[in-house]
Amino acid sequence: MSAAAPAPGPNMGQPIPRVDAVAKVTGQARYASDVPHARAAYAFMLLSTVGRGRIVAIDDTAARAVPGVLDIMTHANRPSVQSMQGMQITSVVPLDGSEIHHDGQIIGFVTATTYEAAREAAYRMVVRYDRQQPSAVFDAPGVDQQLTAEITKGTPMPKEDPKLADADAELARSAVSMDAHYATPTQHHNAIELFTTTASWNGDELTIDGPSQFVFGLRAGVAQQLGIDPAKVHIRSEYLGGAFGGKGSITHRTVLTALAAKRIGRPVKLVSTRDQGFTISGNRAETRHHVRIGTTQDGRITALHHDIWELGSRTDSYCNGGVDAAAAMYAFPAVQSTAHLVRADRNTPTFMRSPPEVPVMFALESAMDEMAEKLSMDPVEFRRLNDTDKDWVTGKPYSSRSLMKCYDEAASAFGWSRSDAKPGSMRRGDWLVGYGCATACYPTQMGSCIARVTLMEDGHARGDTAAHDVGQGVKTVIGQHAAHYLGLPEGSVEVHIGDSTLPPGPLAGGSISTASTGSAIKLASEKILARLGNSVATTPEERRAAFARLGVREITEVGEYVAEGNKPEQLAGLYKGFPAFSAAKAQAHTQFAFGAEFVEVHVHARTREVRVPRMVGAFAAGRIVNPRTAHSQLMGGMIWGVSSALHESTEIDPRRAAYMNSNLGEYLIPVNADIGEVDIILVPEVDNKVNPAGVKGLGELGNVGTAAAVANAVYHATGKRIRDLPIRIEQLI
Ligand code: MOS
Repeated sequence: MSAAAPAPGPNMGQPIPRVDAVAKVTGQARYASDVPHARAAYAFMLLSTVGRGRIVAIDDTAARAVPGVLDIMTHANRPSVQSMQGMQITSVVPLDGSEIHHDGQIIGFVTATTYEAAREAAYRMVVRYDRQQPSAVFDAPGVDQQLTAEITKGTPMPKEDPKLADADAELARSAVSMDAHYATPTQHHNAIELFTTTASWNGDELTIDGPSQFVFGLRAGVAQQLGIDPAKVHIRSEYLGGAFGGKGSITHRTVLTALAAKRIGRPVKLVSTRDQGFTISGNRAETRHHVRIGTTQDGRITALHHDIWELGSRTDSYCNGGVDAAAAMYAFPAVQSTAHLVRADRNTPTFMRSPPEVPVMFALESAMDEMAEKLSMDPVEFRRLNDTDKDWVTGKPYSSRSLMKCYDEAASAFGWSRSDAKPGSMRRGDWLVGYGCATACYPTQMGSCIARVTLMEDGHARGDTAAHDVGQGVKTVIGQHAAHYLGLPEGSVEVHIGDSTLPPGPLAGGSISTASTGSAIKLASEKILARLGNSVATTPEERRAAFARLGVREITEVGEYVAEGNKPEQLAGLYKGFPAFSAAKAQAHTQFAFGAEFVEVHVHARTREVRVPRMVGAFAAGRIVNPRTAHSQLMGGMIWGVSSALHESTEIDPRRAAYMNSNLGEYLIPVNADIGEVDIILVPEVDNKVNPAGVKGLGELGNVGTAAAVANAVYHATGKRIRDLPIRIEQLI
């Protein structure tokens, strides 16, 4: 055991290394663009350089003269594409016409015998625009503000504003109150693996190698766009080099690559550039918040009023929605909230790791710290006093809630009691020292999942489900599920994922993979054990005897896990690309994984440089299948949280509505030198209500709350409350 592979506590599996660890670090693991294709041609996309307007003319004469160019597609000659329902990045049809909706919109697709020739030709395309002034940012003239509840009414993901009692009246009556505005910036996923697609046709059958968080969704969507039978489309996406939500929805590049391959009769490989990735997929929307909290004299909360604005696109109503997580967090006897979407000439945002929780909990957990300070209460004790066992708005009890246990364990490991609460009171040499803490949370959701398990008489097994390895190690964990339920030693299960010829697994989003695959694997394993005449796993001798009695060498069973609130017939929808998420509304309980995060910051007394030498996070998320991969996810999450607090922000030129730092040199993320000690504590928790596997999921837990913990610590160090992320030196001087 080591820090990276914590000893398992109760209700935890073994911290085994990833089954594909060696393959990954030696370059044997195949990412989508690594798959070789004979005679492949290469593509390069041409993107718009204006944020709003129309294409007046495109001259491709010079481009076509580049040696090796095979084909150039623009809106003028693009073959027919059907518009698509479902999880697409935007409702705008690819190369649909001359209109430009945002900077970096795909306006041409060049194919050549080499990547260099395709790129050269794309650069030689001459585009004349009729430019209009885009509205790029909050408060820009021409943006359009709408109510999120109204525009999402009747859609598959309606967003309702939480409301309980008369919060404003309670606020007016409250003995103590706070009132503040917060802001978070646009962020981009910036997975190390770029957005790639290789399309290859064999007659009327299409194979796509492309990183996808939902291969069945991609298969269905692309088939629909091309007007062909989904059974003719095969998606392969065994490993992803990071996704974070950016590879969940279908981008225009996929169908364009498929069309190009058809036109030239050769496989086509597209590897977009880092810069292009900023506009061909989505981003985390910029947000603004207005938070008011009222309490009694002794610190009991009487009301929360949390309004939110998020910046979206003109073309699509995508929004992360409101403050449900915040409203469920503490004993709030009165809640008021209005969510707004502000529509600008930008590319449409999408899911990005804990989409609503990251900005919403930054605002709430900063506000909780401000409130505790007003009450002269310890922020941990303020949260304890207002801890709850139900969501007051819906009235539904928590299935389990170990938040204060997390606070106690993390506070003790961190040495929180050493903190002198007075801002600016702690100093080490030239550095002002601050301690801060905040709550991490992530709702427990599931997706329906079909898994096929085969048990061999010799004690080996195989698990098949089209889950997706976005880097979290799902292949390892699926094998552990099967070994656990079949009573086999670790490492005896071969797992196949990431391929649309397998039974459909869950979308790798919403932190649902471990819970959803585990639940389906459990159901399949139980069927196998029943065939063997047992309800529990057998010894090797019993197993061999049972196989001999049955006269078979192997047994295959399929587990069909229907996520809460879905109907069994919706399983068929998985094949059609509907992810079949559990709907919080349909759940009998309020379900969240929790964590408590503590950080120490050092702020240089003169330069105001901020450092984070150490962090401690304690997390409870039901059954932990692999403490090593869980530790890694949570540590990565907290590091990303530091990134949100101090580094990450997509900068936009408001005149052009163009991203200014669309590269890893200027889009800041932490490097090793920015991160000190990160101590992750896994708090044992049993929750058999959430799903058959008892797993809550934690992929999107660790990065929630961290930014608030850092901001709270910066306040403690300096007495300056920064409410606008990321925290920059200039705000502290
Ligand atoms: Mo994750 S943002 O739910 O793909």
